[in-house]
Amino acid sequence: MSRIVYVNGDYLPEEEAKVSIFDRAFLMADGVYEVTSVLGGRLIDFDGHLTRLQRSLDELEIRNPLSREEWLAIHRRLVAENGIDEGLVYLQVTRGAPGDRDFAFPPADTPPTVVLFTQNKPGLADSPAAKVGIKVISIEDIRWGRRDIKTVQLLYPSMGKMMAKKAGCDDAWMVEDGFVTEGTSNNAYIVKGNRIITRQLSNDILHGITRAAVLRLAREAQMEVEERPFTIAEAQAADEAFITSASTFVMPVVEVDGVALGGGTPGPVTTRLREIYLDEMRKAAI
Ligand code: PDD
Repeated sequence: MSRIVYVNGDYLPEEEAKVSIFDRAFLMADGVYEVTSVLGGRLIDFDGHLTRLQRSLDELEIRNPLSREEWLAIHRRLVAENGIDEGLVYLQVTRGAPGDRDFAFPPADTPPTVVLFTQNKPGLADSPAAKVGIKVISIEDIRWGRRDIKTVQLLYPSMGKMMAKKAGCDDAWMVEDGFVTEGTSNNAYIVKGNRIITRQLSNDILHGITRAAVLRLAREAQMEVEERPFTIAEAQAADEAFITSASTFVMPVVEVDGVALGGGTPGPVTTRLREIYLDEMRKAAI
């Protein structure tokens, strides 16, 4: 069934939505994006995503063409028009379409391109994968050095996902200088006893909105949080592991490079964190 999508001020059936061939994101991956989850028809951590969008735009000197209220109204209208109960809202802002290809940025008054669409995902919160956990492989992290900016430059993460699938697994954890940076589209964690270990924030990883909420809730639940890098060997020796993202929430990892963790089933810390996260975020959804 056709969706209603948003393109530069218009709400259109997806077949009618068009972006220029000269768009900077098409030619140069010169754009940023956000993915916000929807539970019970409401937006999860909308303001967190909007704050990070502003940061990504500022880092690339792209103008934010809309106010918070305008962004919120578009998200809500798309959720309503497409009847989304559980799913995602994808938004992308690019440096616009200057009408030719040039490495230099176009004039500052070039209007940014804005695209939003919904993805309907019934059962997102009650995902079967969350009950059995996922398997990850490790791959080298060969991405650029500004992974804190949420750009649409996703070719290597996409290739990493395919490497995992070819290996009969679900995702890949990327490793740089011997330490895990993050998953292809998620942040990575290990658990030892009551302690949650995840890489500290820097330009090396995306500052996950789910990560921020999960670490806050973990601390509130008296769990210990240690923000430092870890190795694949340490992950293989951990009690539990998991990933976080707007599309997976807290998702258990039960195998790392062929080694099963904690009996190969989701562990108690991960399971509890997923429950706490979903409960709290549903309450705060807008
Ligand atoms: N990905 N790290 C990377 C490389 C990501 O692409 C993502 C999100 C995350 C988690 O961020 P958050 O918790 O804010 O979703 C970490 C989104 C979901 C995607 O590309 O679809």
